[in-house]
Amino acid sequence: MNKETELKKIESEMTGDKSLSLSTNLVFGEGSPDCAVMFIGEAPGEQEDIQKRPFVGRGGQLLNKMIEKIGWKREDVYITNIVKRRPPNNRDPLPEEIATYQPYLQKQIEIINPKIIATLGRFSMAYFNPNLKISRDHGKVFRMNGRLFVPFYHPAAVLRNPNLISEYEAEFKKLPKILEKFDELLREVPVEAFQKKEAPQSKLF
Ligand code: URA
Repeated sequence: MNKETELKKIESEMTGDKSLSLSTNLVFGEGSPDCAVMFIGEAPGEQEDIQKRPFVGRGGQLLNKMIEKIGWKREDVYITNIVKRRPPNNRDPLPEEIATYQPYLQKQIEIINPKIIATLGRFSMAYFNPNLKISRDHGKVFRMNGRLFVPFYHPAAVLRNPNLISEYEAEFKKLPKILEKFDELLREVPVEAFQKKEAPQSKLF
């Protein structure tokens, strides 16, 4: 089975599984299954629920702009969320909602097998490492099980606080370089970095 077919199989399993949290539309994720970079946000919002596509509202437009600014196309990366259905009134996802979707996200990651996982916002960052703090660790490079992990602010947070935009852009611009130096970074960032509260940082960035 190729990656596309494997992903489709999980998506249809999820569509049919009524035990999964929330009753809104399934927003599985989209992009290239052969991508090197997988962006992972929190949960779909209103527009995403309507269109059944991740990051298609105002936050999504900013994300698209950031991706284009580094010379990439949205179709070349993969975009998804930790929770795959919209929580009522866009409230924060509950721990049990995150937990029900966890096995599916894990399978999605295993199939796509990206070199870099780039989280968008504190929820998806904390999902992978609760020791990190978004205000301190955004834009830093960590190592995680043979991949690199880069937490970014959520685009909606940047829209709410336009002072963050130039830093946001600068951090996105690091992504092609991180990819270029992937092997070097993977060797250089200490194995234990990801578990530590004050994670030591790569000297390359
Ligand atoms: N916010 C998210 O975290 N994900 C989306 O898909 C849209 C908005």
